[in-house]
Amino acid sequence: MLKSQYEAFPYPTNTSSNGAYRELANLVKLLRLDCGYRLEGKRVLDAGTGTGLRLLELAAAFPENDYVGIDYSENSIACAERAKKAFPGARVSFRVGDIMDAGAAGGPFDVILCMGVLHHLQRPADAIAGLSRLLAERGVLVFYVYGEHGSGERMRRKRLLGHLHGPDEVARKIESAKRLGFTDFPYGWSVQDPTDVDPMIVDAYVNHREALYTLETIGEMVSDSFASCVPYGFTLERNGLLVESRLDAKFAMPVARTDPRSKLGPAGLEEVYAGLPKRQQLLVLDDLYAPGGYTMLAHNGGFLDELSRPDRLTSNAWL
Ligand SMILES: C[S@@+](CC[C@H](N)C(=O)[O-])C[C@H]1O[C@@H](n2cnc3c(N)ncnc32)[C@H](O)[C@@H]1O
Repeated sequence: MLKSQYEAFPYPTNTSSNGAYRELANLVKLLRLDCGYRLEGKRVLDAGTGTGLRLLELAAAFPENDYVGIDYSENSIACAERAKKAFPGARVSFRVGDIMDAGAAGGPFDVILCMGVLHHLQRPADAIAGLSRLLAERGVLVFYVYGEHGSGERMRRKRLLGHLHGPDEVARKIESAKRLGFTDFPYGWSVQDPTDVDPMIVDAYVNHREALYTLETIGEMVSDSFASCVPYGFTLERNGLLVESRLDAKFAMPVARTDPRSKLGPAGLEEVYAGLPKRQQLLVLDDLYAPGGYTMLAHNGGFLDELSRPDRLTSNAWL
């Protein structure tokens, strides 16, 4: 059912790239500024690439790597192949494939991206285990999953559409979402072109299956496969934050970060926070910011040798 949804509404759009889907490219640039990670010369897998637009933008920003994008939606991969024509020379190969059978993607990979996919799966921990076996020793899995604390309004809209129409009445749900003004999407569903609206509505408010996570449930999902798991970014209703980054404003990219001291200081709780163990601090952040989604890094230790500033990750690890 989920597969047929993405066949009918490839995400993020079935048009060719207009150069706007730069989230992955920006993420890798931030990893460089923040932790001193260099992507040059690496093999990258995008598991559940959708229409591949974000991967193609990453390949354009870091052209000296090899990239593989897999998705089980044939239509999404067909869109990705069309979009690739606008990126001549991009070393990206797209394949139809199920991430539950991740071995089909080849490997080993230095970086595996799995953005916005795991929360749709029946057995996400099995998918993570499969992906972990494809990683090189010094590799990293970067994934994005929905957050429970910050998804209240989105779930309200999804429920409302579900009460109005039957589960298979997708076209009527899209029409009703538009009439109800549900086109002001939370951060992360950026509409670049009017034709993007329908796939965005389906992805945000109509999708057939999704699970919502907290830091604790994310930890449970990855702990059999990875030694360490670090919250790297939170997405909120209208913006994204780096979690406990030490990047300062002198860097070229505009960077917003979690800032618990300024939030807790006025209530006289800064010292209480400072005295907590790290896990407890992260739980405080989870409820202070109530993320609608988490960007997480999972690794088995070797990845830290790739970083000139590993303390950014070691000091903020959940696992
Ligand atoms: C929300 S889209 C995310 C696309 C892309 N990662 C991005 O961030 O733009 C989720 C994608 O996961 C794919 N997907 C879901 N389950 C999958 C599976 N078991 N194997 C491969 N792809 C899957 C869907 O077809 C869809 O294209």
